[in-house]
Amino acid sequence: MTAFPVSTRLGFIGTGTITEAIVSGMLSGGGDLPDITVSPRSAATAGRLAARSPKVRIAGGNQQVVDAADMVFLAIRPDVAEEVVRALHFRPGQLVVSLVATVDHETLRSWIDVPVEIVRAVPLPFVATRSGVTTILPPAPAVEAFFGGLGIAVPCRSVEEFELLATASALMGSYFGIMDHVVGWLRQKGLPAENARAYLAPLFASLSTTALNAPALSLEDLRHEYSTKGGLNEQMFARFREHGGTDALTAALDSVLDRVRKR
Ligand SMILES: NC(=O)c1ccc[n+]([C@@H]2O[C@H](COP(=O)([O-])OP(=O)(O)OC[C@H]3O[C@@H](n4cnc5c(N)ncnc54)[C@H](OP(=O)(O)O)[C@@H]3O)[C@@H](O)[C@H]2O)c1
Repeated sequence: MTAFPVSTRLGFIGTGTITEAIVSGMLSGGGDLPDITVSPRSAATAGRLAARSPKVRIAGGNQQVVDAADMVFLAIRPDVAEEVVRALHFRPGQLVVSLVATVDHETLRSWIDVPVEIVRAVPLPFVATRSGVTTILPPAPAVEAFFGGLGIAVPCRSVEEFELLATASALMGSYFGIMDHVVGWLRQKGLPAENARAYLAPLFASLSTTALNAPALSLEDLRHEYSTKGGLNEQMFARFREHGGTDALTAALDSVLDRVRKR
């Protein structure tokens, strides 16, 4: 059970998917919680969260969130971020954690008229079950401790590192896409889709757990360990590579990195 520092009051501007995941993760573990203030728009989500704990309060407006918090999370979509942030009055020195993936530090600073501490973070939906992996730029102990309570916090020393991991995080859709493709192939060959999925999902999960639990082994070593010489696994990866599978992955990563860097 992880305790979040109760003396750091939290505020969320934007009570959508990611705020619900973060607050749900906090509420899921029991233990003492800090005061959590959420913005009132998206009344259904705000109401759901407030109904789960007396520690969650719904503010009357965005400024009330800022006034009630020591650590303010910006969890609005990029298209409204400038308008929302420019309208707010922060306290000098306040900690602002921006989850808006597309807005850099310099831009955020230009929207805020007092010197505040700005930290960017990219939590993933798994924070809801405290199994998130959250990149943080720059390293900031309070923010690392917070997201460490919701899984693993990954402080980044440079914007380049942050952008590279943001690129890798865009593999989530492909992960399910690959699984879906294989399920489709198995179904076409006669296996019921539910049986295919029931087999593949734990297989993929166990492979990830293996990589997670063996950090000293290189991934190449793991590939060899899980591929008998001349066997089926070796054949699968060799054909995948020969037919452009790894090249396609590299091209996709390059194109997403280009987009991440142009923001
Ligand atoms: N979802 C993720 O997994 C994830 C992960 C990392 C980072 N992020 C980032 O987090 C941000 C939010 O993403 P999300 O997925 O949570 O989006 P979302 O579900 O659309 O939530 C955004 C929320 O902001 C509200 N909002 C709009 N205008 C507002 C205003 N003027 N004042 C206060 N709230 C306002 C929206 O209300 P309405 O629906 O009524 O417009 C909505 O509830 C994005 O910048 C995204 O890049 C998301």
